[in-house]
Amino acid sequence: MRVIVPPIKSQGIKTKLVPWIHALVPAVRGRWIEPFLGTGVVAFNSGFRKALLSDINPHVIRFYQKVKEREITPSSVRRFLETEGQQLREASEDGYAYFRLVKNRFNTSQNPLDFLFLSRTGFNGMMRFNRNGEWNIPFCQKPDRFNRSYITKIVNQVHDVACLIQPEWEFIVAPFEKVIPLATKDDIIYCDPPYLGRYVDYFSGWTDEDEKRLFDLLCKTPARFILSTWHHNDFRENLMIHKLWNKFNIVTRDHFYHSGGKIENRRAIVEALIFNFSANIRIHNYGVEPKPEQLVLFEERVEYITQQLSRADIV
Ligand SMILES: C[S@@+](CC[C@H](N)C(=O)[O-])C[C@H]1O[C@@H](n2cnc3c(N)ncnc32)[C@H](O)[C@@H]1O
Repeated sequence: MRVIVPPIKSQGIKTKLVPWIHALVPAVRGRWIEPFLGTGVVAFNSGFRKALLSDINPHVIRFYQKVKEREITPSSVRRFLETEGQQLREASEDGYAYFRLVKNRFNTSQNPLDFLFLSRTGFNGMMRFNRNGEWNIPFCQKPDRFNRSYITKIVNQVHDVACLIQPEWEFIVAPFEKVIPLATKDDIIYCDPPYLGRYVDYFSGWTDEDEKRLFDLLCKTPARFILSTWHHNDFRENLMIHKLWNKFNIVTRDHFYHSGGKIENRRAIVEALIFNFSANIRIHNYGVEPKPEQLVLFEERVEYITQQLSRADIV
């Protein structure tokens, strides 16, 4: 499966886990509902024609809404990054003076293209906001960040997501409590909330009470759901699994996160998918062997994505 990588970056991005997650998705007729959208990588690879996508971070939602409305297009992104890239290259302090200018401009105007600029010039592809909701990631210190091939890569990513966003994909800025109750029995909800105790910032504080509220809502939903969380690492277990989630089905798998650029910051964690439907899983740990009909659906969705990507009407 070719995984579609979105133009927005974030430290919690699930790119590597996308095939694993999608192999588990059951046959449903309704919508893909994702209340913790983040970069959108899981939604963009879902192959669903209808979706309800939300996050409390207004910047990601606004960016994709503008792509949907064709206000942001591959060609407008190319023009923007070529102009801004030139300014960055020529700026004093090895580009830092211009990075600072865009950061201040974004913190005042919240322009979605400035958000894209910051997402792609921030240190290590991280996204974080301070307590005033302002961009809080330092410059990657590459004045030539927007060289020709990097711009083309980003433009292609914008093209891919523009092809995949459908008229029946709805983007909203909302807390998860507002969105989960909207699900019907025909929908599938995919939840990837912030992990307790990791990367706390303006939009990703997460407490035991949040987890409990999420649990209560998912217990009540008539929809199917899949929840991403962590199971254990070398030092501790996720106590919430025993406290709350154990009554549902759980599959696990190893994953490596990089926080910071250094190899020693690579942290092994065992990821878990918790779900409320039956799946004929033969390998409980380190993998999912989906039911034959799940595989057929998975292939259909992949084929649908491939068709969408070849659309020529998006420039
Ligand atoms: C772990 S990230 C999701 C990452 C995403 N799956 C990806 O691959 O990019 C969690 C997301 O939840 C959002 N979030 C945090 N608290 C929230 C809340 N109470 N309601 C809705 N979204 C929330 C954050 O803004 C963040 O984008």
